[in-house]
Amino acid sequence: MNNVFDYETVALVDEDDAIEIIDQTLLPGECKLIRLRTGQEIWDAIYLLQVRGAPAIGVTAGFGIYLLTKTSKASSYEEFLAELKEHKDFLNSSRPTAVNLSWALNRMEEHIRDYYAKLMAQDSECGFDKLLPLLIKEMRAEAETIKEEDIKVCRKIGEYGLSLIKDGDGILTHCNAGKLATIKYGTATAPIYMAHEKGLAIKAYCDETRPLLQGARLTAFELSSAGIDTTLLCDNMSGSLMRSGKIQAIFVGCDRVAANGDVANKIGTSMVATLAAYYHISFYVCAPTSTIDLDCKSGDDIVIEQRKAAEVTDMWYEKPMAPEGINVYNPAFDITDNSLITAIITEKGIFRKPYDLKVSLQ
Ligand code: MRU
Repeated sequence: MNNVFDYETVALVDEDDAIEIIDQTLLPGECKLIRLRTGQEIWDAIYLLQVRGAPAIGVTAGFGIYLLTKTSKASSYEEFLAELKEHKDFLNSSRPTAVNLSWALNRMEEHIRDYYAKLMAQDSECGFDKLLPLLIKEMRAEAETIKEEDIKVCRKIGEYGLSLIKDGDGILTHCNAGKLATIKYGTATAPIYMAHEKGLAIKAYCDETRPLLQGARLTAFELSSAGIDTTLLCDNMSGSLMRSGKIQAIFVGCDRVAANGDVANKIGTSMVATLAAYYHISFYVCAPTSTIDLDCKSGDDIVIEQRKAAEVTDMWYEKPMAPEGINVYNPAFDITDNSLITAIITEKGIFRKPYDLKVSLQ
């Protein structure tokens, strides 16, 4: 079995015009790299969660839009922009909740608009055939920058989060906001990795995270591979664990944070937060500022992805585990009310209640 830390979550392979990802649907049994070349392959990989986690989806989208525009034969800037928008809309339709997807795509478009304006300011007579290769080169550079920034941002979140951890703490996490959801440290796992590196005797607890088991398959795998004392539990066991006194802090990631501090994260997060409030346990949300969506006033504005019934009834079993045709409720995410969140940890600092992220981010 290969070690997941030997591979990049998402990488650009220039010589093959491809994005290389670890196929996360095969973990932990098999660590297999796959290459995505077409728009449909990139869309499918995001939709099927072969690559998942808000920041990793953002990086994939950045590389994706670069690769899709690389073959452009546009004869004018307007034509190029129209193609870019078409690719953007397509990729953006793969998953609705993680804002990093649209954030990365919009950032790529804005960057290219600014860069074109700069080129025009230097030489407004220059023919588009000479400009097109420059625009494409710049798209590659910006996509790489998004990836590099993710590593720095997660490291910073880790440093802030570490300041909230004490020797001997039991730390619970939900879903996977780890290396596999980002490029290197993860968001919610960054403080855990750093506490471990520092020699603190922490214990990590991972909710299995039904229905797609990101906690069992990915987080428990990642943290135990890194040598961290890791325990797996079913989602319905966290209340019992909290009551036992074994949990001192909870760190989770997020897919979108509204301006009022309401948070969308993997389904089940709001249940964990509610229990944490009851047991007076600190509940921290780790959020790169790219995951904060100031256009959403509250969690009510966040679109929640609904997924197929088979993920609940059939996917992990040899035979179906529910009556045929049963109605299934399968939202991929839920909203945790800001009142339940002790603090939101970003790369720009730790924000506390009452949340007004518009002001905090000024
Ligand atoms: O459906 P997934 O696996 O993409 O959901 C991932 C999560 O909910 C993560 O907690 C979130 O994206 C943060 S990743 C740093």
